[in-house]
Amino acid sequence: MALRTVMTKRTLTGVLGFRQQLRGVQTFSLPDLPYDYGALEPAISGEIMQIHHQKHHQTYITNYNKALEQLHDAITKGDAPAVAKLQSAIKFNGGGHINHSVFWKNLAPIREGGGEPPKGSLGSVVDTNFGSLEALIQKMNAEGAALQGSGWVWLALDKELKRLAIETTSNQDPLVTKGPNLVPLLGIDVWEHAYYLQYKNVRPDYLKNIWKVMNWKYAAEVYEKECP
Ligand SMILES: [Fe+2]
Repeated sequence: MALRTVMTKRTLTGVLGFRQQLRGVQTFSLPDLPYDYGALEPAISGEIMQIHHQKHHQTYITNYNKALEQLHDAITKGDAPAVAKLQSAIKFNGGGHINHSVFWKNLAPIREGGGEPPKGSLGSVVDTNFGSLEALIQKMNAEGAALQGSGWVWLALDKELKRLAIETTSNQDPLVTKGPNLVPLLGIDVWEHAYYLQYKNVRPDYLKNIWKVMNWKYAAEVYEKECP
């Protein structure tokens, strides 16, 4: 996740005269996609990828940074109501940044291994937990299709129990809101902005096709890091 520090100078005038205070607020910037916008076609159009990345993800980051700077000010002033008021903006926009940062890495062009089934220990645990990869895909697609409104469907690893689970979150809630031990292996964005330009209202078709560009290699790397 790209991170940069913006240093801003604040001028304060106190009873003893003029002084300056230097403050650092960590802010975030849009991560590059690891492939071209059109590289996931025909599963996901280049137009969708470009708007999704440059407009939607960027907006979450812009609003997250703004909320973090407001939070810094509110904490500095000891303004408890303002701190509380910012929590929903931080959850929504911070979640949007976290979720999309995972989502881009969860996808890969077919020529770079997108859609290739999981191998090694993750492949085995998928069979153990779900019976087969096909059964897992069907279950995730069913959960994603049934999710009301906007949200995400996840293949989660419970790193304490060493088990896989399918979870859904609403809006931009990140997976960690469903449990502190849950780590996202795969996340599918089921907001309309992720598919509507190409699939219109037929979310199940988008869910069916996204597996053709799923980056199981990334999921396996995360799994092996958490369950060595
Ligand atoms: Fe999205």
